[in-house]
Amino acid sequence: PEPSYVGPDSLFHPLLASSNPEIANAKLPANFAWGLSSSAYQIEGAAKDEGRGPSIWDLLSHRVPGQVVDDTNGDILGQHYYLYKQDFARLQKLGTPWFSPSISWPRIFPFGSGPINEAGLKHYDDVIAELVKLGIKPALSLFHWDTPLALFNEYGGWTNPKIIDDYVNYAKFIISRYDEHVPVWFTINEPQYCNWQYSYYPAGEYYPSYGIGPGAKARWLCGHHTLLAHAKVAKWYKEEFKGKGRITFKNSGNYFEANSTSTEDAAAVSRAYDFVLGWFGGPWTDGDYPQSLKDTLGDLLPTFTEKEKKLIKGSCDFYAIDAYTGYYVGAINDVQACATNSSAGGWPECVSQSSVTPDGFGVGPSGDLGVTWLKSTPGGIRSFLKTITKDLFPAVPDIMVTEFGFAEPFESEYTNIQDATWDLRRADYIQGYLDNILLAATEDKVNVTGAFIWSIFDNFEWGSGAAVRFGVQYLNYTSLERTPKASLFQTLNWFKTHGGEF
Ligand code: NOJ
Repeated sequence: PEPSYVGPDSLFHPLLASSNPEIANAKLPANFAWGLSSSAYQIEGAAKDEGRGPSIWDLLSHRVPGQVVDDTNGDILGQHYYLYKQDFARLQKLGTPWFSPSISWPRIFPFGSGPINEAGLKHYDDVIAELVKLGIKPALSLFHWDTPLALFNEYGGWTNPKIIDDYVNYAKFIISRYDEHVPVWFTINEPQYCNWQYSYYPAGEYYPSYGIGPGAKARWLCGHHTLLAHAKVAKWYKEEFKGKGRITFKNSGNYFEANSTSTEDAAAVSRAYDFVLGWFGGPWTDGDYPQSLKDTLGDLLPTFTEKEKKLIKGSCDFYAIDAYTGYYVGAINDVQACATNSSAGGWPECVSQSSVTPDGFGVGPSGDLGVTWLKSTPGGIRSFLKTITKDLFPAVPDIMVTEFGFAEPFESEYTNIQDATWDLRRADYIQGYLDNILLAATEDKVNVTGAFIWSIFDNFEWGSGAAVRFGVQYLNYTSLERTPKASLFQTLNWFKTHGGEF
């Protein structure tokens, strides 16, 4: 049956009107892209349906004890694979101009390479056609962590340079098919975390260790291979489809501010930025890794040939940052810890990190999860946008905040649907972030061209499973019903007031 719109008629609750006098009449730049974001494994469900091959996340969630805190998996959850028409109808009715999903590589190539799964392809043909029909613009990710399991089994996934050709083959296939309808492409989602799947499984127990194991080296190898894979696709795209759309990858990072005015703490901030953002931003803006990474990591860090440096430099059309929060950081003695710890991202070991303190850069509400990165630091995003575009990478033409979002407490803390959907802390967080993104554009003259909120509805939050809810729509995991939360209305209301595409 044709989907019909399900949701309240009145979108603009008066209580949620933007009330910050500093920006009362301010408008975003024209053509500012905004919408909601998501990823295939986190929202699609239908994991075993219509010829999809397994990804490493099917393995991790089903077979590695303790990997997902609540033992949930992406088998069903949102079932967006089947309910996408309803989901898009709702987005259109609400008036979100963009949607940022990802394509599932193992749905197209169940074995990572080789035969194509026609049913999966037909599905994405329909998805793209539906978005086009409704006038919703896709900002499409080609890879959001769901590495085809076959490639992991065969050669260790992203730890092995063999994956570059397989990824390029898949990416070219998808881009060629949907190019006409996709104005923005993300090659890789958060390459900073491309190795984190490897750090969880005990080497040798579930898989041979490929001589690499889950430790430190895998992180830098994975990062290296994602950069090369991205650059090859980006170069080809720019030549093949000149000026038709834009291509980049999505970075993960958060705002850092020094614990004190000491030179040691300032150096710690700059090292932390090198390890999180410079790791990937250095190669595409300058053609190589930052010197501090080379100095600290030595042989652990792979090197680029001159040809590769040329390929990577300038391979992004704009800077995309997923930024959820901010931290104060300070110096530590053991800098080598950055090199040898295997955890994702690399930075926490390079600095001493204190959680955000109350008199800092605009602390808003915080999630109740005891996780510091869930703290709301709206002032931080403004400083962060400035830092990235003016200090760290002055060569970047413009920047989009491709993810920001807020996790509410565990479901067990909700007593009823009203509590879950009257999510004032998330609404507050979103307003604070949007206000500060606007201020970065209007006051600091940062060329910020888009903002995407994570996420379209509650979904599979990787290691936190279904326990952590990031959605601006509540997902009833039993009935699969989606209910817009106050934060979604807050967002719509905000954009109605402050321009941007609508
Ligand atoms: C960034 C990742 O891209 C996304 O998959 C994840 O769910 C959100 N952050 C929230 O943790």
